[in-house]
Amino acid sequence: MPNQESKKSYKFFASKVFIRTFGCQMNTRDSEVICGLLQKEGYNITDELEKASIVIFNTCSVRQHAEDKVWSEIGRIAKTGSDPKKRGLTPFLPIIGVVGCMAQEHKEKIFARAPGVDFVVGPADIDKIPGILKKIGTVPKKQGQSLLLRKIWETDGDTRPDEIYHEGFYQEKDHAYVVISEGCSNFCSYCVVPYVRGQLHNRNHEDILKEIKEAISSGKKKITLLGQNVNAYNTDGVNFIKLIGLVGGIKGLDEFSFITSHPRDTSINLFKAMRDSEKLKKYLHMPVQSGSDRILKLMSRGYERNFYLDLVSNYRKIVKDGVLTTDIIVGFPSETEKDFQDTYDLVKDVGFNAAYIFKYSPRPDTEAAKLADDVPRAEKEKRHALILELQKKISKRKHD
Ligand code: SAH
Ligand code: SF4
Ligand code: F3S
Repeated sequence: MPNQESKKSYKFFASKVFIRTFGCQMNTRDSEVICGLLQKEGYNITDELEKASIVIFNTCSVRQHAEDKVWSEIGRIAKTGSDPKKRGLTPFLPIIGVVGCMAQEHKEKIFARAPGVDFVVGPADIDKIPGILKKIGTVPKKQGQSLLLRKIWETDGDTRPDEIYHEGFYQEKDHAYVVISEGCSNFCSYCVVPYVRGQLHNRNHEDILKEIKEAISSGKKKITLLGQNVNAYNTDGVNFIKLIGLVGGIKGLDEFSFITSHPRDTSINLFKAMRDSEKLKKYLHMPVQSGSDRILKLMSRGYERNFYLDLVSNYRKIVKDGVLTTDIIVGFPSETEKDFQDTYDLVKDVGFNAAYIFKYSPRPDTEAAKLADDVPRAEKEKRHALILELQKKISKRKHD
């Protein structure tokens, strides 16, 4: 049970929490952090939605499609929850929380669009979730009851207290994601991440190493270091290359990797460190986004096509048999046939092991949203399908 207070006023029937995670690995890790914090308070984590008295959606805002999926799922669960027979275990509706990037993007406006939602918590406020549930637990949500009493939102946080990373909850048996930096200060013109996740904030390297050691002592053998732009890591005299050296020296760690690398901050020194570190996986995820210099400029990516190609050729020279993957956006505002062809040719020339291809989706408040979203949907789909098909062939060839 969560606490004495809620025990008295409202029986939670074992207080089972179900978390549904959307979006990137950051969110995967954040969901684990939330589970860890709640478990410490006595809640049980369940992967059976029907048995949960608390349902949390950890959401993604990166494209409209990502948001649409969440809206429809909240609607579905809020509806199922409104039929106590369907819910089985509890006469009450489940408590529903929306956390993560959409929470930050839409804040309390979420309550208007999804009246079944009880609390909204932004990425920098997840440490407050146990306290919020405690408050909500004292006001049971009976059918037909006015929901106004229950709405709570926290979206003003800045940085997270480091303790939240040390609860030791990991989903996988022998692998752990470890956040090295939160947020992003790059402001690529299309991207919502700096707005919803805040500016880049590096965790102290000692805290990072402590977390890794804790994970290892609980049986993890592999680690993935996480950040929107890991190569920009630099704090208290420790840059990313130095951090890699420190992580590589941890006893009991078999293998580690990192995501994501921004080309502008990626250097030959990183490749040398990859070559020289026994435990570092020879894997680089380095999104190019476009092969057209004109579009790269409009995206504010801070590098040109040739700079990227030089990086690739150095990577291949230095890191033998290194795996290389990328992200690509097609249909960015004003992208012409010629711009698209430049991207297509780049994909063909580089020969990525895998490429994640996205159709441009305008995000509110971003710089690119001021530009006309003028590539017709059918054209975006066509360009998406063309690169997908090309990449499929390349991936198959590489695999064979
Ligand atoms: N920090 C990482 C990943 C950010 S989001 C990086 O910089 O690479 C993951 C991917 O989603 C991006 O690489 C980009 O390809 C895609 N993406 C981001 N915003 C988008 C948008 N508005 N429309 C379409 N794809 C987008
Ligand atoms: Fe978004 Fe660019 Fe930051 Fe990646 S580097 S999260 S694409 S702003
Ligand atoms: Fe999505 Fe937020 Fe990750 S917008 S891609 S969940 S940082």
